[in-house]
Amino acid sequence: MDNKGGKMAKNEWTAENIPSQQGKIILITGANSGLGLEATRVLSAKDAHVIMAVRNMNKGKEAASKIREEYPKSQLELMHLDLADFDSIRKFSEEFHSKHSKLDVLINNAGVMSPPRREATKQNFELQFGTNHLGHFLLTGLLLNVLKNTHNSRITVQSSLVHKTKFYKADIHFDDLNWENSYNKNQSYSQSKLANLLFAYELDRRLKRHNIQTIVTAAHPGYSSTNLQKNFGFFVSLIGNSLIAQSARIGALPILRASTEEGLKGSEYFGPTRMGETRGYPEKVQSSDKSYNEDLARKLWDISEKLTGISYNFEE
Ligand SMILES: NC(=O)c1ccc[n+]([C@@H]2O[C@H](COP(=O)([O-])OP(=O)(O)OC[C@H]3O[C@@H](n4cnc5c(N)ncnc54)[C@H](OP(=O)(O)O)[C@@H]3O)[C@@H](O)[C@H]2O)c1
Repeated sequence: MDNKGGKMAKNEWTAENIPSQQGKIILITGANSGLGLEATRVLSAKDAHVIMAVRNMNKGKEAASKIREEYPKSQLELMHLDLADFDSIRKFSEEFHSKHSKLDVLINNAGVMSPPRREATKQNFELQFGTNHLGHFLLTGLLLNVLKNTHNSRITVQSSLVHKTKFYKADIHFDDLNWENSYNKNQSYSQSKLANLLFAYELDRRLKRHNIQTIVTAAHPGYSSTNLQKNFGFFVSLIGNSLIAQSARIGALPILRASTEEGLKGSEYFGPTRMGETRGYPEKVQSSDKSYNEDLARKLWDISEKLTGISYNFEE
């Protein structure tokens, strides 16, 4: 097995545990690289129709053809989506609605980490908060009508261990959500990843309150070797990724488990359990106390609706 930790024990959850996904439509953001690409590969092998939502269509085509080489019968659909641009997200949603009337699983996976200098989205939000949280908040709200009407549907959110590591001091900085006064690349990333979890749990609570069957689950990949660490220079991106990080193949398992395991009730959070949750096979793990804070989640929800201009519709 591709686990640098050694032999696989019998009860370790792997891609082999995933039941057939035939007949399901699964949408993955950031599907051309790293964990999203790996999840796309596995779900294709399980016969899902996978919509690869990517911001760079050439990279998307390359990724799709790699998967098709391995699984010629893959049902892959490439669609353009730039989460750092609300107009692109709305256009994506229109195109999606014109083609599909159901969506079984939405996997909010795409992300950007720690640009050294503050960068902004098209609508001028700090890049990490704008892409990782606000972009997915808008996308999910626009697709909710289809999810609500798809039996047994699910939304799965990719967070990170840094939402609870002390060094990153994760919080929601309501006084300067967009890091205009003092930019800190790591705290901004951890804010966006805490926001992912606050959103996931709050959305799950709201769906339940409205007796909607769609559930929301979450995951984190530990430390996995992907393109995400490109902003961290030689040591982390080359040495750290090749010697310390686990492979994307293992790192994608938590999001795969969260998005496919049958019998989940909603609000489950999966991640690796070895070496401080940085590596290993996925199990249910505990997120920070802050991530379950309902006041914080409501406050973030209200401001996110205001900033994205979407009002979630939970009614029929
Ligand atoms: N790798 C880890 O150790 C780790 C740890 C904790 C959490 N995560 C989370 O895992 C998720 C996937 O990251 P990864 O490790 O697989 O990194 P990755 O290889 O860099 O993949 C990130 C994906 O997100 C896409 N993306 C970035 N900005 C986008 C935008 N504006 N619109 C649409 N797509 C966009 C990227 O597209 P391009 O290829 O065009 O850039 C890429 O497909 C992220 O949410 C990340 O925060 C990863």
